[in-house]
Amino acid sequence: MVTSPIVPEMRVAPSILSADFGALSDAIDLVAPGSDWLHVDVMDGHFVPNLTVGPPVVASLRDHTDLFFDTHLMISEPARYLEAFRDAGADGCTVHVEVGETKALIAQMRDLGLRVGLAANPDTPFEAVEPYLDQVDLILCMTVFPGFGGQSFIADVIPKVRQVRQAADEAGLTIDVEVDGGIDERTVVEAARSGANVFVAGSAVFGRAHPLDAATEILRAAVDAVTGPPS
Ligand code: DX5
Ligand code: ZN
Repeated sequence: MVTSPIVPEMRVAPSILSADFGALSDAIDLVAPGSDWLHVDVMDGHFVPNLTVGPPVVASLRDHTDLFFDTHLMISEPARYLEAFRDAGADGCTVHVEVGETKALIAQMRDLGLRVGLAANPDTPFEAVEPYLDQVDLILCMTVFPGFGGQSFIADVIPKVRQVRQAADEAGLTIDVEVDGGIDERTVVEAARSGANVFVAGSAVFGRAHPLDAATEILRAAVDAVTGPPS
């Protein structure tokens, strides 16, 4: 049987990692008109060599906006904190396949009513996430090694993005395929053509003079990459 793939909605998810942490609500207001997801990077100083925010900050931001919180947990023990992030207002949580216990973490996220994401580092093969494709809502293919904003896009990840989308299509699964790291209006083109539909961008949004325009431009470049620019 030939299944016709349902292409999920294209989205840009500005990452607050590159925003002014002293004025996060202002940063959100800047991009909200052009984005419906906000990417929240959580780092524990263990899974990655950096520390960022936890549930209290998510709760404060939740009081401020209705944007979908795409919460990227770069932490070694997500099981300990998933409930707190849910209670704080996270809509979706993404855990890394490298931390292990993936089956249990997926079940825990489902029980909590979270949208379920699974992330893979650039050097983690497709085969590591393949067994979970029918159990998740989103696969995040890291296009940099996690831990810091402002790194260069790793194009070697593109074949994995293609593998994830192709496997999902073949199985008739409508999942989001997200890319994160070094995404801008140029790198997004190849990512979109390979099947990604959610584009995280930190420095290419909040590092620009006009974050809303930058986010809009990234999304437009992604849509044009798969549909062609309007004639
Ligand atoms: C990196 C984070 C990314 C980061 C991306 O570990 O997961 O979400 O904010 O930043 P840019 O877009 O600057 O590469
Ligand atoms: Zn991230």
